[in-house]
Amino acid sequence: MRVRFVTGNQNKVTEASDILSPLGFVIEQLLIGGKVPDIIEPQAEGIEEIARSKLEQAISLTTGTEFENEVLLVEDSGLFIDSLSGFPGPYSSFVHETIGLAGILTLMSGQTDRDAEFRAVSAVSFQGNILTSAGVCRGVISENICGNLGFGYDPIFIPEGANGRTCAQLSPNEKSAISHRGFALKGVSELLNLPSR
Ligand code: IMP
Repeated sequence: MRVRFVTGNQNKVTEASDILSPLGFVIEQLLIGGKVPDIIEPQAEGIEEIARSKLEQAISLTTGTEFENEVLLVEDSGLFIDSLSGFPGPYSSFVHETIGLAGILTLMSGQTDRDAEFRAVSAVSFQGNILTSAGVCRGVISENICGNLGFGYDPIFIPEGANGRTCAQLSPNEKSAISHRGFALKGVSELLNLPSR
């Protein structure tokens, strides 16, 4: 089954393809007229709400195009730090672009509770329905920026079960096996594979 991933983030497309290809899906980035469609990310409290809004916009943008009947996938994700009451959470993109990794480490300086989690919600449109699946990856914020693989907050996030390495020090397969995205997308694959579908 072909799935069109609505995102401008090539890293997400690669990770989704690594996760879903072995399960029988072909992942392609959605380009309309050769361009990533303009999707507005609403300022909402929950990432599920944001994912749904992005998917509804994508459905509208593809109505009447060659992609109208295709399976569309969107994802919203973020880093939630326990001692900062879940910050940056739904503001993760903005915070990454503004204060960046160094800014997060400064906010965390002297903090002994460094527990945090990545969360992702994947939403797909399939035969007129919207299906969603969430994934969580628990871990801690590192003391230093470490590693050069992955993207975003990977160099400051040490997931559980990775022997103290940040996500940016894990191979793509190691990251996908434990990541928020891995769990959310495996959930989506199960929903799409239900016998009634
Ligand atoms: P969004 O889902 O594209 O809005 O991502 C929100 C923010 O979280 C961006 O700054 C991403 O770089 C970051 N992010 C999302 N997923 C990951 C991940 O797997 N690793 C590291 N950062 C991530």
